Formats: sequence, structure tokens, C-alpha cells
Amino acid sequence: MKIVTNTFLKLYILHFEPIKKNIMSNNFKNNAVRGPINSWFFYFISGYMNILWGKSKRRLFQNHPDTVVEIGPGAGANMRYLKKGTKLIAIEPNIHMHANLRKSAKKYGIDLNIKSVTGETIDLPDNSCDFVMSTLVLCTVENPLQCVHQIKRILKPSGEFVFIEHVNARENSILGFIQNLIHKPWHWFFEGCHTNRDTASLLERSGFSRLELERYNLYSPFVPIIPQIRGKAIK
Ligand SMILES: C[S@@+](CC[C@H](N)C(=O)[O-])C[C@H]1O[C@@H](n2cnc3c(N)ncnc32)[C@H](O)[C@@H]1O
Repeated sequence: MKIVTNTFLKLYILHFEPIKKNIMSNNFKNNAVRGPINSWFFYFISGYMNILWGKSKRRLFQNHPDTVVEIGPGAGANMRYLKKGTKLIAIEPNIHMHANLRKSAKKYGIDLNIKSVTGETIDLPDNSCDFVMSTLVLCTVENPLQCVHQIKRILKPSGEFVFIEHVNARENSILGFIQNLIHKPWHWFFEGCHTNRDTASLLERSGFSRLELERYNLYSPFVPIIPQIRGKAIK
């Protein structure tokens, strides 16, 4: 009886759960106005982003393999840190980002393969990647826990997920107050971005075998995203 129950459970988890989840969460809504605005915003601001995050990104991405998966690459801000000829599998559901993503790939000599799927529904096989990266994305994906589970699923054992994210400020702090105050318009303009998401806790309970996570403040005119985390998670 126990064997039958276990087999049934395994079949359910392996086959029906992912199908249900795919239907439920591959529902990214492309916006004809905010989509192109965000695409150009992230394309034009990439030089400034390099000033803010260049040092961290160079350090985090330095040992990347020849093939890299990036979740939510946007307009391609991270390509300048990849070796020429790197094969980049871009999980980018926002079709308005794609033209600038291709433009960046041409500029930095990246072999680009865009997949218009969400981070929650990545269509890559289990245990197939060595290196997954994402910057400023888990703040925006609709179901970040599901996205992190997908990242873990596609990583090979000992594979690395490297990340930079802005996160919620300390409770009862001025930054926290500002994050809550601006949350609605920010969320609307930046197509789903949460100023106050607790991504650090989410990564801590996502079951990676090792997590190196550093909290820091990055001061810039973008006040709601001053509190940040960076690091890597090993499967
Ligand atoms: C704030 S932008 C960051 C872009 C880029 N990573 C960077 O650092 O410049 C967030 C990106 O996440 C993408 N995104 C939003 N929801 C997503 C999802 N469910 N799965 C994957 N990417 C998503 C957006 O289309 C956008 O490109």
C-alpha cells in the first residue's frame, strides 16, 4: 500500500504539479507603453548602472563558464561583464526588451538565445546549467520562490546562481517608510517591481546547499533601492 501511495505521489509531483504551475504563472503581461519605456530606460542607464554595480558584477561573474543562463536580462546591462563569444540563454518574457537585448549582444559579442518565458516556467532540462545569473529581477517576478526553485532545478549539482537584488529595508527605518510610500507608483512604472520584498529570507529558505549572501547599502538617487544583497547560491 505504501509503495502504491508513494508512486502515486511521485507521479503527481513530477507531472501534474509543474503543468499546473506553468499554466498559473507563465502569465507575464507585456505592456505596449511601459514595456518600451522600460526597455529604453534600462538601455540608456546601463552606463550609470556600471558605475553603481560594475565592481560587484565583475567579481561575481568573473569565473563564468562559456554558457550562461540569465533570468530577466532586460536590455542587456550585464553583457559587458561576459567574455566575448559567451553563449547567453536569456529568460526574458518582456518582448519589448528583446530589440535592445539583441543590440547589446551585438555590441559585446555575445551569442544570444532569447526565450520568451518567465523565470517561473523556464523551459530548460533539469540539471543542465552550470551558471545562472540575475540582477534586479527577483524584486519583479510574480512568484519569486517558484523562480528560485526553477533556477535550482536547471542547475547541475554544484552549479552556481549569482545575484544582486534590492531588498526591504529594516523595519521602522526611514528607508522602509520611503519604500512603502513609493511602492504603488514604482510597482506600476517598473512593471511589477516591489521596493520592499524580503528576497534575502526567500533565498535563505530555498534549499541551496550553500548560500553566500552579503547585505549592503548602495547609495544613489534611487533611494527606494538603497538596501541590497549580493552573492551566490550553490546547488
Ligand atoms: C528591473 S529589470 C532588470 C533588468 C536587468 N537584469 C538589469 O539588471 O538591468 C527586471 C527585468 O526582469 C524581467 N522580468 C519581469 N518578470 C519576470 C519573470 N517573471 N521572469 C523573468 N524575468 C522577468 C523584466 O522584463 C525586466 O527585464
